[in-house]
Amino acid sequence: MDKYAVIGNPIKQSMSPVIHSAFARETSQDLEYGKLFAEVDGFKTVVDEFFAGGAKGLNVTAPFKLDAFEYADELTERARTAGAVNTLARQPDGTFLGDNTDGPGLVSDIRDHLGWAIAGKKVLVLGAGGATRGTLLPLLNEKPALLHIANRTASKAQHLAEDFVAYGSISAGGLGEVPEGFDLIINASAASLSGELPPLSPRALADGCRAYDMVYGAQPTPFMHWATGLGAEVSDGLGMLVGQAAEAFVLWRGVRPSVEPVLAMLRDDLR
Ligand code: ATR
Repeated sequence: MDKYAVIGNPIKQSMSPVIHSAFARETSQDLEYGKLFAEVDGFKTVVDEFFAGGAKGLNVTAPFKLDAFEYADELTERARTAGAVNTLARQPDGTFLGDNTDGPGLVSDIRDHLGWAIAGKKVLVLGAGGATRGTLLPLLNEKPALLHIANRTASKAQHLAEDFVAYGSISAGGLGEVPEGFDLIINASAASLSGELPPLSPRALADGCRAYDMVYGAQPTPFMHWATGLGAEVSDGLGMLVGQAAEAFVLWRGVRPSVEPVLAMLRDDLR
């Protein structure tokens, strides 16, 4: 049976085995999907052993996305621009392709599942770390009217934007100097992880604004509360988690699973 797994540290919390097993059942794919733990400096040893046993692919979560980037023999464009790999696929010649499905998972959740338009819209992304970097190419490929990155440390946002000017209309600045009237705001900052709210002016929201937090949990984040209070439609990032898994499944198996049933199941489990 074809073998896959997710590797991380910690790894106990990962929902990837549940998600991929559900995808496999639904698409009648015969595969086995497990969890791998590695010490922070032990990625290569564990992964070498896993693939030596004939495994076909691996998902990669924190803190190993840069290790996986190094491990890959070949990179997709979205992995190269993300500077990180969350999916490794063994190719027929035995080499490893590194992909990054986080950004595509975000875009498919927003565009296809939530039905929120990105094309032609003014999009604001909060944060300028690895999570933001991974989303920029997939978002710019949707042809927003403008993509603005706002970060607590403005210079980090500006450097990030410079790396992507060739891909579309992109600008950047600090959180206190955000232009007005965005149609879609995506919180890719780590603020929600510590229960904090990025200090953003309500004027950043256009009428009918949608607000997406890449974090998920049983309760709405402070950012989601804030945006709801200002009349925005909101979503957490659970659909991005399922979406990135679906994109990895497509890469490995060549078939697209439906995300809706799995998303409903995980949402129930969170409650
Ligand atoms: P990740 O890989 O998840 O993006 P990261 O690279 O550590 O993690 O980046 C975290 C991002 O969240 C940064 O943009 C950080 O802002 P700074 O660059 O100024 O550090 C942002 N961030 C973290 N805590 C925040 C908070 N409380 N309010 C606003 N932004 C915050």
